[in-house]
Amino acid sequence: MINVSYQSLTDGTVLSLTLHVVLVPTVFTNAVEKKLFTPGPLGVSLTTRQAMLRDLGSRDGEFIDTVKFIRNKLLELAEVSAETYTCVLVQGSGTFSVEAVLSTTIPRKGGKILVIENGAYGKRICQAVKVLGVDLMHLSFPEDKKVDVQKVAKCLQSNVFTNVAIVHCETSSGTFNPVTEVGALVQKYNPDASYFVDAMSSFGAVPLDLLKSNVHYLVSSANKCIEGVPGFAYVIAQTDKLLQCKGEARSLSLDLVAQYEGLEKNGQFRFTPPTHVLLAFKQALIELEAEGGVQGRANRYKTNSAVLQDGMKKMGFRQLLDPSDQGYIITSYHYPNHPNFNFQEFYQRLNDKDQVIYPGKVTDANCFRIGNIGHLFTEDMECLLQCIRNVCDDMDIPLPLPQK
Ligand SMILES: Cc1ncc(COP(=O)(O)O)c(C=O)c1O
Repeated sequence: MINVSYQSLTDGTVLSLTLHVVLVPTVFTNAVEKKLFTPGPLGVSLTTRQAMLRDLGSRDGEFIDTVKFIRNKLLELAEVSAETYTCVLVQGSGTFSVEAVLSTTIPRKGGKILVIENGAYGKRICQAVKVLGVDLMHLSFPEDKKVDVQKVAKCLQSNVFTNVAIVHCETSSGTFNPVTEVGALVQKYNPDASYFVDAMSSFGAVPLDLLKSNVHYLVSSANKCIEGVPGFAYVIAQTDKLLQCKGEARSLSLDLVAQYEGLEKNGQFRFTPPTHVLLAFKQALIELEAEGGVQGRANRYKTNSAVLQDGMKKMGFRQLLDPSDQGYIITSYHYPNHPNFNFQEFYQRLNDKDQVIYPGKVTDANCFRIGNIGHLFTEDMECLLQCIRNVCDDMDIPLPLPQK
């Protein structure tokens, strides 16, 4: 409490003021809020962050109810019935769920997987398969296009696989792969195979009909389109198929059947659960529903993406992908062809303005990426565009960029 008194020199009146000062811990006042235009980690709402500010025991009834709520809600979002599909939560980042599916569902005896790939995340599936020492056929496509369904059909016609894997939104470029068409081909030519879709950066904002697409396993993680905080991933699995894999896992912690059985038995995780992260995720799911579910979120991301792509086009930046291959999650841009452009400097100057973009992840073009998922809105996209204009000006790069 601070008392301040003031006496007027002209008429001698005394004015007295009492100030009540609330001290906020410096950790809150000094923290800079960055806007993340990346594929993850992503920004989340304040209310989602606040939901974490509680300690709950892993056997607490409220926590067990939270896990149940999350598992059911994810099945609802996937529009599948709890009678035929289940949701298994896996501690760790997204890659942990990818490895959990691969190490549990590829048969130890006679397992052979086809990985259909057009970018870094598809290549990561191949890497995980190689670690397992499983028989792998790798069908590779150019990084700047969707996978070619005709070529996939030929491959499936002339080979027998136990498992087929593909990435939905290949986040390294931003393209959406035709997972429904590929799923129909798997069903037609390899009807016994399990079909696995890595929907890490699309689930919750890009509608996908799992039944029509013949998807047996789909993975995503907490801090993508649902906008929870990072710390766990989840698998939506066709229950019968999953149960056939009992005893196949090559890992203890990533054994998907054991994790499922644990969750079903008493609603608990087998090993320490990320309690705070799960509380935040429940709040994130409530906020997703309030926004209009998958369609509502898709609409916001589509608007963000349109604002970004239009603004960047006006500045003369060239997209890596043809519009027919471009999704609405993340966009890759070629480096401008100007001697003053240097990505590190461009990135740092934007970062100094609290705007965080991302390096490219394609191997045969110099690109950077701008994501538009997470807690981002039209005004955030417009602010980023203004910062890019200012940074180009500061770097003496005239806009619009010349078109070759
Ligand atoms: C399609 C896809 N698969 C896998 C991953 C890996 O997830 P994580 O980095 O959380 O392990 C990502 C990450 O962005 C991704 O976009």
